[in-house]
Amino acid sequence: MILRATDLKKTYTIGGRPVEALRGVSLELADRSFTFVVGPSGSGKSTLMHLAGALDRPTSGTIEVAGKDLTALTDDQLSEFRREKLGFVFQAFNLIGNLDAVENVLVPFYAKGLAPGMRAKAKELLGRVGLAERLDHRPKQLSGGEQQRVAIARALLKDPALLLADEPTGELDSKTGAEIFALVRSLHRERGASVVVVTHDTRFIEPGDRVVRIEDGKLVENS
Ligand SMILES: Nc1ncnc2c1ncn2[C@@H]1O[C@H](COP(=O)(O)OP(=O)(O)OP(=O)(O)O)[C@@H](O)[C@H]1O
Ligand SMILES: [Mg+2]
Repeated sequence: MILRATDLKKTYTIGGRPVEALRGVSLELADRSFTFVVGPSGSGKSTLMHLAGALDRPTSGTIEVAGKDLTALTDDQLSEFRREKLGFVFQAFNLIGNLDAVENVLVPFYAKGLAPGMRAKAKELLGRVGLAERLDHRPKQLSGGEQQRVAIARALLKDPALLLADEPTGELDSKTGAEIFALVRSLHRERGASVVVVTHDTRFIEPGDRVVRIEDGKLVENS
């Protein structure tokens, strides 16, 4: 299993009032699976992605990703786990402002030192997502969709065990959106990454994909 959640709950407290974003989600996703998470706005999709991405901790329940019980790890161990195993394409967890596109793609590798050829590979991947002419742009000098594409190039370079994408095509036109999905599919098919993608764009669902529907913090459909 790439992901196993058991009775996962997340309650935020805002101004002393509890907001139950996840109300007991149990879910198993097989290695090399491709999963769509769908559901209405505010239903808990991004919350689930944050927990799966080791960016936040559940209020109760357990979550295992790539064989690791995330609730048992220290903050430092979680950071290392994220760096080693996960790819992210999130709107709110994106790029570092004072780095250009190439450097942003390389960020996850800085901690361990860049292997030879990495920089060239980063540039090649930025070319594949249509940003060959934007290599030295910083995030503020890129459109929202271009920033998403830098995040995708970064995820592709990392070769993660699990790629988490939260509305990856939300800010893209339909042609660029289709290209992004094609890249994510190739990461899945050619390199065996498991993928979980939150999207309203259900036309990209293919036979064999999992579809998980969340409403009001609960799984209502799991196929
Ligand atoms: N940091 C937070 N603090 C307090 N409440 C939060 C926080 N993050 C999310 N929530 C609340 O938790 C619920 C679930 O939010 P979440 O972001 O997971 O929804 P979503 O399904 O991703 O929605 P959307 O499709 O609009 O992105 C919402 O009611 C939201 O207001
Ligand atoms: Mg969301």
